[in-house]
Amino acid sequence: MSRIEAGSETHKSLFCRQFIATHQVFDPETLPWPELTAEELDRLRTIPFWQEVYHTERRAGAIVDAFAPQITDPVVREAVVLQGLEEARHAKLIRTMIDRYGIDATEQPLEQFPADLETAFIDFGFGECLDAFLGFGAFKNARQSQFLPEKLFEIFDLLMFEETRHIVFFINYMAWREHRRGLGSMRRALKSTRYYGRALKRLLAMVRRGHQPNDGRDFAVTQANVFLDRFSFRQFVEDCYRENARRMQEFDPDLMQPRLLPAMADLALRGMRLWDRSRPHLRADVR
Ligand SMILES: [Fe+2]
Ligand SMILES: [Fe+2]
Repeated sequence: MSRIEAGSETHKSLFCRQFIATHQVFDPETLPWPELTAEELDRLRTIPFWQEVYHTERRAGAIVDAFAPQITDPVVREAVVLQGLEEARHAKLIRTMIDRYGIDATEQPLEQFPADLETAFIDFGFGECLDAFLGFGAFKNARQSQFLPEKLFEIFDLLMFEETRHIVFFINYMAWREHRRGLGSMRRALKSTRYYGRALKRLLAMVRRGHQPNDGRDFAVTQANVFLDRFSFRQFVEDCYRENARRMQEFDPDLMQPRLLPAMADLALRGMRLWDRSRPHLRADVR
């Protein structure tokens, strides 16, 4: 962000107003949900994470709704209230899909949130940044492999667009908040790294939970092999990096954007390229 001073009133007004102006009005129930063939239904139902996604969206709505009334600045509060509405709508969208296509997913109780709701909101925000960055790559891969009908990806894309708006809003909110508190760039970077570390820990715990036996749904041996077989770590990192850049282009360049994860991905990709170049005899089998 070059022209606007982070933490200023102009900055605050820009990131809140843009967030509010790009809010879309739609009802998940009346979206153009496609009719699926038996095979497509089967594929959709074998995906094991719908229950987790549904829970995550409900939890997101609850955290944002709980934190919003504590915000004293009216325009920031207005934007956060809108985010809460969008998160609740994400949950409704997933619920609509679960009901419509008969997916096996039950509603789990929401945990108690800590008394410090702002920290819960910040933890949630960094978690969204991590999930969205990885989600960009996973979404592109799944869409390219045509694992599900394109009509469904078009609906999911609505959700991806809103998540991208959320993380841009969050990054700007954090910069605004920390500048007002007088935190220098080094302390802000350290703080972000610490929060990303916590988000990664939570994500890994969720993945481990998903791998526990007896959930009756072994994703690896199902038709999901369509894209798991072709999985390449480097391709995935590249997809995350490129998709992040593509999706970020839609935003005003005066807004701040997430930088840490793309920078880490870029570094990893450079490292992998350098590694390949130093071992040309092995290059043929690396994508
Ligand atoms: Fe969401
Ligand atoms: Fe979100």
